[in-house]
Amino acid sequence: MLASLSPQSARINPPQIVTEPPLLRAHGIVRRYGRRIAVDDVSLDVYAGEVVGIVGESGSGKSTLLRVLNLEETPEAGSYRLRAAPKLYETDLLSLGRFEKRTVQIHHIGVVYQNPHLGLRMRFSSSGNVAERLLIAGERSFAALREAARESLSASEFPIARMDDPPRVLSGGMQQRVQLAKALALKPALLLLDEPTTGLDVSIQALVLDTLKRLQRERRLAIVLVSHDLGVIRTLADRVMVMRDGHVVESGLTDQILDDPQHPYTQQLVHAKL
Ligand SMILES: Nc1ncnc2c1ncn2[C@@H]1O[C@H](COP(=O)(O)OP(=O)(O)OP(=O)(O)O)[C@@H](O)[C@H]1O
Ligand SMILES: [Mg+2]
Repeated sequence: MLASLSPQSARINPPQIVTEPPLLRAHGIVRRYGRRIAVDDVSLDVYAGEVVGIVGESGSGKSTLLRVLNLEETPEAGSYRLRAAPKLYETDLLSLGRFEKRTVQIHHIGVVYQNPHLGLRMRFSSSGNVAERLLIAGERSFAALREAARESLSASEFPIARMDDPPRVLSGGMQQRVQLAKALALKPALLLLDEPTTGLDVSIQALVLDTLKRLQRERRLAIVLVSHDLGVIRTLADRVMVMRDGHVVESGLTDQILDDPQHPYTQQLVHAKL
């Protein structure tokens, strides 16, 4: 009895200390369109297995930042590193040439857009959309392509009986699952989501979010999630960054930011959604 009260048995687990560097490290990103600054000196670290949400009113620079992180756009200033493959972390991805950027994008970054037209070929079969990603990465055997596409669609909980249907005849929720299957087909470390469930019925949205959450946990994905829907942010994001006019005005743990916002702009955003 006494032994069970000894200091040793009463010892609690020490706090978990993060020892690995972030998977994504973006620093001092500036993106201008003419005289307009869309993203103004934004820095962001995201760890493997972590979801960072980005919120902010329309035009605050959320999608522009995501396009920079997807290497679709080159900012005027900043650096960007991804610890997704040996040696890659030593390279500032923004300094790479077009072809090298494309290679990093294909292998290490997945993206899902609100508008499926941006991510999918609406007249190809759904399986073909996913297979295309694998084809670009070098897979050539038709049977292997089809099997890998089926596997990725199934992981995204897409109804396999419809894998040969083109996205244009599918529901919005199914189209987002095809985008997700395509994004994750090559098992990237980073997933970028720009309003992935906006416009879907609430019940469909909840199902897609469940799938995202499961895949994120199973694959220890780092996710950057843009959404104006604070319910979606609360469901998925561990941390939140609040953007206004290209700046980050506030950032912190999701519950802290949504329950106790400090910046008047965040307070306004949170209260507008209540
Ligand atoms: N290709 C472009 N050419 C010129 N200006 C652009 C371009 N893309 C974005 N902008 C401008 O950059 C700013 C940020 O736009 P962005 O699309 O990143 O905002 P957002 O936060 O994603 O907004 P929303 O919530 O409406 O999607 C806006 O002022 C926008 O007009
Ligand atoms: Mg946007």
